[in-house]
Amino acid sequence: MAETAELILNGQSITLPVIEGTEHEKAFDIGKLRDQTGYVTLDSGYKNTGATKSAITFLDGEEGILRYRGYPIEQLAENSSFLEVGYLLIYGHLPTQAELTDFSSQITKHTLIHEDMRKIFDGFPSSTHPMAILSSLTCALTGFYPESINPNQTADENNLQIVRLMAKLSTIAAWTYKNSVGHPLNYPRNDLDYCANLLYMMFSFPTEKYEVNPVVVTAMNKLLILHADHEQNCSTSTVRLVGSANASLYGSVSAGINALWGPLHGGANQEVIEMLEEILKSGGDTSKFIARAKDKNDQFRLMGFGHRVYKNFDPRAKIIKKAADEVLHALGLQDSPLLKIAQELEQAALTDEYFIERKLYPNVDFYSGIIYKALGIPTEMFTVMFALGRLPGWIAQWKEMRENKEPIGRPRQIYTGELERNYVPMAERK
Ligand code: SDX
Repeated sequence: MAETAELILNGQSITLPVIEGTEHEKAFDIGKLRDQTGYVTLDSGYKNTGATKSAITFLDGEEGILRYRGYPIEQLAENSSFLEVGYLLIYGHLPTQAELTDFSSQITKHTLIHEDMRKIFDGFPSSTHPMAILSSLTCALTGFYPESINPNQTADENNLQIVRLMAKLSTIAAWTYKNSVGHPLNYPRNDLDYCANLLYMMFSFPTEKYEVNPVVVTAMNKLLILHADHEQNCSTSTVRLVGSANASLYGSVSAGINALWGPLHGGANQEVIEMLEEILKSGGDTSKFIARAKDKNDQFRLMGFGHRVYKNFDPRAKIIKKAADEVLHALGLQDSPLLKIAQELEQAALTDEYFIERKLYPNVDFYSGIIYKALGIPTEMFTVMFALGRLPGWIAQWKEMRENKEPIGRPRQIYTGELERNYVPMAERK
């Protein structure tokens, strides 16, 4: 007998069906609640509200579990590549060698961006934050590929838009960086794989031969894999909501990039490094910052700590922490003062009642910036790297929402404003 819930309202009994997912998560299906009762539910920040059913990513915040299409993140980070994980998220299965070769070569073929995009780059003041450029140029792709504005294309046409976005966002990201430091732009190289090409476009100079460091490529792959999807987080929910209005993939992802930019979300990785640098500059005393984070009258938060869902260690943080150690050792940066401060801060917080009581643990952003910095990526580009990693997740979630023919997202509200009142002519206003 299917489980149900009973709501007693003004003496009336309403039966709510209970739905259960494959990992036995349960939900009251309130799809007919307003029709049956005239009531809606209210849940600021959607802390208790499921927006959709999805087969892409499963995470268990209490157990610290994260799986993409059923595969544990630990195994993917260890054995896979970013493009293989991208294919898995978008198409639902681990690709055969032929499928992966085709996907990778298609992406390689589309990394070049239209020369007119350079004119858009040139229009941005050099002070522009890279995330503003990334979201603008992502949406601008609809200008170069107007057919992409219509999301109701054939599967092949949609796949072309997907490949174009996966390919061109890496070039746009690299050019955004070069533009910000006034260096000549590097065109993509088809002889390099995705991560090596990204690093080449970001760090090579026409004046010298650029050697791709395999340690850096491995670290980059791992970081991008770990950021690739995270079920219904703020930016992914934004992509799904914007896409539910039949907006284009490029327009939906552009909106997601702006949501990710928020310092409480993906922007936290930049804030973490700036916080660690501030601690370093002030003599390395972490206790002052822990005290500020606990002070209700201080807006300061321990960036990189806490999570809406993980009330245990963020499994990604564990992997990234280990990778940070490995990468810094491999690059001879093991004595990085920022790494030391981060480790001290983590230890201090994990033994402090305030953080323990609130189940605040390091999240994906706490250590990722230390690796990005060691790879030579400037702080302002950290969230751009997060967006590059999250791109296949956004695409997969947008595609799933469309394939499931989900209705346009339109939440209700409880009105708390003025009751009806008449217009007051200017002369009578006080
Ligand atoms: C990401 O959703 C996702 O999946 C996101 C993400 C992804 O992959 O897409 O995982 C990526 O966004 C990671 C989170 C990065 N953000 C940060 O590191 C910023 C710092 N963390 C927070 O601001 C906070 O923890 C959030 C935003 C992440 C979660 O906030 P919630 O769930 O709304 O929790 P809350 O703000 O209600 O906090 C609960 C309590 C409060 O104290 P009380 O009012 O109960 O006394 O915990 C406190 C908060 O003040 N708290 C913190 C804190 N985080 C929460 N106090 C100090 N420092 C912090 N970092």
